[in-house]
Formats: sequence, structure tokens, C-alpha cells
Amino acid sequence: MSATEEIAQGQRFDFGRNWTSFLDTLNDGKVAAAEEALRAMLAVDSLRGKRFLDIGSGSGLMSLAAHRLGASVRSFDYDPGSVACTRTLHDRYCVAEDDWIVEQGSVLDERFVRSLGQFDIVYSWGVLHHTGNMWGAIDNACSTVAPNGQLFLAIYNDQGRKSAGWKQVKRLYCSGRPGRLAMSALFIPYFVADGLKEDLTHLRNPLTRYSQKARSTRGMSAVHDWFDWLGGFPFEVARPEQLFAFVRARGFTLERMTTTSSLGCNELVFRRSAG
Ligand SMILES: C[S@@+](CC[C@H](N)C(=O)[O-])C[C@H]1O[C@@H](n2cnc3c(N)ncnc32)[C@H](O)[C@@H]1O
Repeated sequence: MSATEEIAQGQRFDFGRNWTSFLDTLNDGKVAAAEEALRAMLAVDSLRGKRFLDIGSGSGLMSLAAHRLGASVRSFDYDPGSVACTRTLHDRYCVAEDDWIVEQGSVLDERFVRSLGQFDIVYSWGVLHHTGNMWGAIDNACSTVAPNGQLFLAIYNDQGRKSAGWKQVKRLYCSGRPGRLAMSALFIPYFVADGLKEDLTHLRNPLTRYSQKARSTRGMSAVHDWFDWLGGFPFEVARPEQLFAFVRARGFTLERMTTTSSLGCNELVFRRSAG
């Protein structure tokens, strides 16, 4: 079954639609924030000379950031709408350059993944838990990292029963228009209130987080992140120690991580052994 059919049958979130809407909000500040986030987590100033693979490129913003930092980039996504968004950014920012390839493909398709070759940096942020086979997807992602290369993963944190509850919310959201409207009506007010509480606690203007100038982490947008969270299905989770053990068994060591005690993603950067 194709991604489009899976979306029509309520088995997959329409990521491409959310990313298309996100691109309308993209500005230079967000592109700069995306570059900054990559530099910080990879602990580099530049990616000049590096081969960068973006697995599940979504909007294409992080591929764009890697390209602007000097890498030659290969981006792919399973969802045709996400691929179209990444191509839009490619064409908008890199008209004459051919060192950024954008294509459609699934990280679960072993033949496709093998055909990609190996990369100095493999980036897959918030993707592999949305494939329907997270551990198979992580295994395939590991195989694309060159010796001494880095693997940057962000995977939803396992919150036990809370995560199981959210999985049902996401399933309902993707089930069709009534489910989408019901889940939005139930949870969007809760997200707004949560943001308001945080802003008031830190004496911040509550409207700033929704403005065009908002510089959220990785250049993303608060409102689009709500829908990505509400609808992001298929949905799997992992504890950081499960990820360490799985990736370490494939010849990697952990270099850096930021973990959460909540429902977001744990971010981990691994390095593959040289030999
Ligand atoms: C939450 S978005 C993250 C996008 C991007 N990596 C980012 O950091 O903004 C998840 C993306 O993973 C893609 N995806 C889901 N399953 C996939 C698969 N099997 N192969 C490649 N991409 C996939 C979705 O289409 C979507 O664009």
C-alpha cells in the first residue's frame, strides 16, 4: 500500500499536509534556528565536505540547514507531500546546485536503503517511530552510516500508559474528519493553556510563541507541532537505554544526548566505530 492510500484509510497521519502549511510560516529566523540546532547537537561549526543523509525530511528545513552549513545532502521521505515540501525548499534556495538530492522512499525498504550508500552524518529526527516498524527502521538507518560517521536520532520517549493513551488519540485523529475535529477540539485548548501557563511563569508575552518571528527549537512552529503531535501515527516509543543497547550492538558509541522526562523526543548522537 502507498503512503497516500495509508493516509486515506486512516492508517497514517498526513504529514505532508501539515508541512505544506508550515512552509507558509518559514522565514530566515527559522532557517537560522535550524542551522544553530544542527551545529549545537553535532558540535561543529560547519559541515563542509560532509555527506549528510536526512531520513524522513518532512518540510526539508533540516536538509536545507545542513546544505547551508556546507554538506552535500540527500533527503528522502515516504510521504509524497513531505517530498514535495523538501523539493520546494530545494528549488527556492538552491536553484543551480546539484549537491542536494531529494527523493521519495521508505526507510523500511531495504533495497532502496542499500542503494543510497553510506554517509558521514545520518539525521533522522522524529521519523523512525512513525514508520510502523521502529526497530527495523533504526536497524536500516544504522546501515547507512559510514565508518566513523555519526547517527543523529530523535525518538519519542516511552511514558508507559500515557504513551499508550496518546496512541489511541492519534489513531482517532487519523480515522477521518469526525475523529480529527473531536481530538482537535479536546486537546488544542489544553495545548494553548499549557503554553500560557509556561509563558506566564517565565514572565513572557504569550503571543510571542505564535508570531512569525518566534524562534522555536530547530526552527519549527508551535501550532504545526501541536498537529504533528496529535496526528503523528503510526506511533511507537522507546526508553533511552533501549536505544543505547540496540545501537551499541551495531558498533556505535553514544556521543551526546538530550533526554526528556515527558512525552517529547529523546535526542541522541552516536558515532560508528572506524573499522
Ligand atoms: C514528524 S515528521 C519529522 C520531519 C523532519 N525529520 C523534521 O525533523 O522536521 C516525520 C516524517 O517522517 C516521515 N516518514 C514516516 N515514515 C517514513 C518512512 N517509512 N520512511 C521515510 N520517511 C518516513 C513522514 O512522512 C514525515 O515527513
